Amino acid sequence: MKCPVCGQVLTREDRAWRCMSRHSFDIAKEGYVNLLSAHRSGDKIGDNKEMALSRRDFLNKGYYAPLADAVTACLRRYSSGGDTVLDICCGEGYYTAYAAQCLDRRFYGFDLSKNMVRLAAKRRIDARFFVANIASIPIMDGTVKAAFHLFAPFHAAEFRRVIADDGVIMTAIPGRDHLYGLKEVLYDQPYRNDEKEPSAEGLTAVERVRVRGEITLNTREEINALFRMTPYYYHTPSDGMKRLESCSTLTTPIEFILIIYKKA
Ligand SMILES: C[S@@+](CC[C@H](N)C(=O)[O-])C[C@H]1O[C@@H](n2cnc3c(N)ncnc32)[C@H](O)[C@@H]1O
Ligand SMILES: [Zn+2]
Repeated sequence: MKCPVCGQVLTREDRAWRCMSRHSFDIAKEGYVNLLSAHRSGDKIGDNKEMALSRRDFLNKGYYAPLADAVTACLRRYSSGGDTVLDICCGEGYYTAYAAQCLDRRFYGFDLSKNMVRLAAKRRIDARFFVANIASIPIMDGTVKAAFHLFAPFHAAEFRRVIADDGVIMTAIPGRDHLYGLKEVLYDQPYRNDEKEPSAEGLTAVERVRVRGEITLNTREEINALFRMTPYYYHTPSDGMKRLESCSTLTTPIEFILIIYKKA
């Protein structure tokens, strides 16, 4: 990891990470470290505690396990034992934990939200979690063999900087039919996703993997948890909300495209 103040390598000393210039970052009791530069707290940034818990509980039930499987399979193909793997915007660590349980790699994960990183660290897996911003990733240049980045802002220049010359960065976009069953409830005229890929300057897509499945949610709690994880949560008309509130079960396709990039 890299010192967010001066850019030198950080090494672990007891309960803190320190650089040669003695900048020091304490390890929280849950085991993560806050590497946001300046004195900004990650507490008030990103999803609140309730949303982070709801996301964790939903993912833990395995509804998105087909995606976690596909990410893990790609990591297995594009990295080897002992390589460094980075989960960019790791959220509450579901995908990091899934892959770390299957693969012998050095896992790192970070997110801007302290609430999320705290939950990730509480998973007690063999991974190092830290609070940081994708605009300035506190990782030394070219040290990551495989990075993955799921449903979060894209920052091609930083992704390119941290991966090794023969490394990869993979991202996921929603496929055409992703959550169409939910959209049929929410909207009078539901639409398919356009599968628009992010602008990835300096990176070249070398592989695309399509992941499809169907899920059925049988409780109001799970339906709400899924809804809150989607962008529709922020712009759904009130009649759509009412229809969703009256659903006690929901079946929907899930579909993702995993895009694997190398340096151009
Ligand atoms: C939709 S969640 C996805 C989390 C995780 N990748 C997953 O799929 O479960 C998006 C995450 O991006 C994080 N995020 C948003 N902006 C960020 C930034 N500038 N730097 C780091 N993380 C950021 C949020 O805190 C949130 O945890
Ligand atoms: Zn320093």
